[in-house]
Amino acid sequence: MTPGEYPNPIDPFAVLIDLEKGTMPEHTNHLVRLASDMRGYYADSRALESLISGDADPLHYEVFEIPVIPEQAGQLMYCISKLQPGKIGDEFFMTKGHYHTVADTAEIYLCLKGGGYMLMKTAGGKCAAEKMARGTMVYVPPFWAHRSVNTSGDEPLISFCVYPGNAGHNYGDIEAEGFPKRIFERDGKIVIE
Ligand code: F6R
Ligand code: ZN
Repeated sequence: MTPGEYPNPIDPFAVLIDLEKGTMPEHTNHLVRLASDMRGYYADSRALESLISGDADPLHYEVFEIPVIPEQAGQLMYCISKLQPGKIGDEFFMTKGHYHTVADTAEIYLCLKGGGYMLMKTAGGKCAAEKMARGTMVYVPPFWAHRSVNTSGDEPLISFCVYPGNAGHNYGDIEAEGFPKRIFERDGKIVIE
């Protein structure tokens, strides 16, 4: 494809990422997941429900982004993912996780703050966990579902994510399959099992 044939070209731009705070001050989209959005994801559903009682529905994680429009092949989407610390029963807070809708698209996560793991799996049964700490870059290859898990205990896990503009999010398959491994705290230790 020549530059003239590329559809909907956009102009170059620059955006500030505050590496100390782990924020993108100019974000225009703010996606919020509350505890109630996580029903069905944790091993101990009673422990999750006990968090949601009454008017309480605590914040679980957020995504801050400035979408690159149109979301098409050849462009890159980027965002900040911020996952709160905590546990549901013994299981550390995590994101829902997803495959990309266009399954053969990769993603890079650069951890800016906090600590935890990127849990990954393929539909074929492979599973991997990469430790995340400030400065760690995790490469999620095409076809790998991915979920971040905050094991820090007391601070948010914040990552800068970059992925192809046409990738999309497929939550349905992970909702149905789950991940083969979960991350728990047992006797003060982090256990992946
Ligand atoms: C984008 C991506 C991240 C996640 C974010 C929230 O492809 O992987 O920006 O979207 O960490 O997690 P999910 O999307 O699993 O709720
Ligand atoms: Zn993704």
